[in-house]
Amino acid sequence: MAGMRRRLVSNRFPLGAALFLFGALVVGGHITTGQFAVLGAIMVLVSAFAPVRTISERRRAAAGAGGALRQEVSLYGAALDGIPDPLLLIDRRGTVRHANAQYRRVLGSMQPGTSVLIRYRSPEVLDMIQSALAGGSPAPVELVERTPREHWFLVSIAALPRVGEGQRDFLVHFRDLSEVRRAERMRTDFIANASHELRTPLASLAGFIETLSGPARDDAAARDRFLAIMHEQAERMSRLIDDLLSLSRFETALGRSDFARVDLIDALVHVVGAFQPVAARDDITIAFDRASVPGARCEVHGSRDELIQLFDNLVENAIKYGGDGKRIDITARPAELGGLAAIAVEVRDHGPGIAEEHLPRLTERFYRVDVETSRGKQGTGLGLAIVKHIVTRHEGRLTIRSRPGEGTTVLVTIPALTPEKPIRKMENTVETDS
Ligand SMILES: Nc1ncnc2c1ncn2[C@@H]1O[C@H](COP(=O)(O)OP(=O)(O)OP(=O)(O)O)[C@@H](O)[C@H]1O
Ligand SMILES: [Mg+2]
Repeated sequence: MAGMRRRLVSNRFPLGAALFLFGALVVGGHITTGQFAVLGAIMVLVSAFAPVRTISERRRAAAGAGGALRQEVSLYGAALDGIPDPLLLIDRRGTVRHANAQYRRVLGSMQPGTSVLIRYRSPEVLDMIQSALAGGSPAPVELVERTPREHWFLVSIAALPRVGEGQRDFLVHFRDLSEVRRAERMRTDFIANASHELRTPLASLAGFIETLSGPARDDAAARDRFLAIMHEQAERMSRLIDDLLSLSRFETALGRSDFARVDLIDALVHVVGAFQPVAARDDITIAFDRASVPGARCEVHGSRDELIQLFDNLVENAIKYGGDGKRIDITARPAELGGLAAIAVEVRDHGPGIAEEHLPRLTERFYRVDVETSRGKQGTGLGLAIVKHIVTRHEGRLTIRSRPGEGTTVLVTIPALTPEKPIRKMENTVETDS
């Protein structure tokens, strides 16, 4: 009886190995218990239909054609293909027996029979594999693959339980850390950029404080000039902090509990009115045409403050970067978005325009076409990042069209509140394209 049980267990080595592996992946948080159950069930079925053979029968079969081994690999290879992480099953010499589907998709083809010790050049990975093959329990190591694009992995190796007199196999697991690494890089870039932008006006303030308390102490004319510059620098710092806070608010708190019925055209009138004197100082005309939007079609479900902030940024950019064209055209018209009524607002300048390669990156935080020009105009490259967030929060669409020499047009389309589309809880966002 005991012998019978042993025979059955040994014949179900693939099942045992796979369940051991799935269990490890559940514990490691790589697959859910639901996926574990499905994969386990598949393995049980596969195993149930697999021919039951004694060890000696298996040995004979293996010695004969070597086909049993291949059959076994293909049986649980199919199950390994269901695991969402890249995996390699290797033998004790480091020869690949199976590369699962995710491995082939992410890391490229890997034929059975290839030696992993030849495929991987990273000394850390090689040391880890060799140590495991020699019976050790090495710690996971990091691997960076640079082609086709940068990918980071945490590579670990586990010895599968040896069954009967069979040889021990090993499972190499690649945990994809790329998204985590990219997010980390974005965060550190963001902190570096924010600190740099804050340090510039701060250094200028510190310099003027020193001058005013020393050499310029009794120079009334210099004092007034320096105080005006200090005021400007302090305002720049406070604006940058406001922008950073806006971004962090949009990125963390996604609640829209303050959204209400807002007259979009009214918000736009407010912004145009505020910018008229600034534009007039530089001989720029702001032409605002809202004639085609009937009164009843002006309302959207949103935040008036955010919509004002959105149009503020667009009109400010048009004046700052497109002011040479001396005319800014703003139009509001009825439109359609996803089959529903919407309002499209267009802010168009006749300035130098933007080269095509910059367009997809304009809404990235701190992205500026020409850093010096923008900084000279008090810009920090956060405006369009904020615009994109606000448009997304309003389930709208942002499109920026521009050609060098032909000016820039920014189009914002926001769903309208019409009798057919009453206020509702908005859960989904429409992808903002820029
Ligand atoms: N209308 C425009 N014409 C030409 N270039 C533009 C225009 N609008 C934006 N840009 C370019 O896009 C960049 C990003 O704009 P964004 O509004 O995000 O930042 P900013 O204006 O530099 O700084 P901030 O808005 O934070 O004060 C600008 O630095 C500028 O190079
Ligand atoms: Mg701006």
